[in-house]
Amino acid sequence: MAAEPIISHVVVPGTFDPVTLGHIDVIRRARRLFPRVTVAVAASANKNGRGTAFTLEERVEMIREALRVEGLPDDIEVAPFRGLLVSFCHELGAGGVVKGLRAMTDFEYELQQADLNSHMAPDLESIFVMSSPEYGYVSSSIVREIAAMGSDVSILVPANVDERLREHYGAEAAQA
Ligand code: PNS
Repeated sequence: MAAEPIISHVVVPGTFDPVTLGHIDVIRRARRLFPRVTVAVAASANKNGRGTAFTLEERVEMIREALRVEGLPDDIEVAPFRGLLVSFCHELGAGGVVKGLRAMTDFEYELQQADLNSHMAPDLESIFVMSSPEYGYVSSSIVREIAAMGSDVSILVPANVDERLREHYGAEAAQA
């Protein structure tokens, strides 16, 4: 039997609305494990059917800047995608998908997605890294909720995202 090709290119997918320090931790660790990493930014959130707080372009730009601010290797690519994640991985020629796992609550959702993806693309490997303890409670939705109430999220997000959140929710509060 011929050996399977070794995975050298992985995708770290997500909605990143906005990118948090938890995401940055997963991206950093994916890059420690694999020589080529593409952060794939999904066009729209599909967990709750609602739209995103930031546009696709804003989310892509915030990640690019956050990677610089946080000192990650400058060979990490950031790309938007629409449609199925597995199709995007095939387009890029990536062999795996890396995601972070926080609590058990993440597990069922991630397992369902990994099963679906494996059904549609058996050649793609789903790889999970356990979130670092300091970021176990950090999520984009928690960050948005706290920022919308005008509270400080600077320990949860990169500095450029903190600034962007203040502009976004400050402007919303001013309009209300
Ligand atoms: O940050 P999230 O919301 O956990 O990311 C979820 C994401 C974007 C990775 C997932 O919703 C996704 O892969 N969307 C693309 C559409 C798709 O491929 N759906 C089938 C797999 S569930």
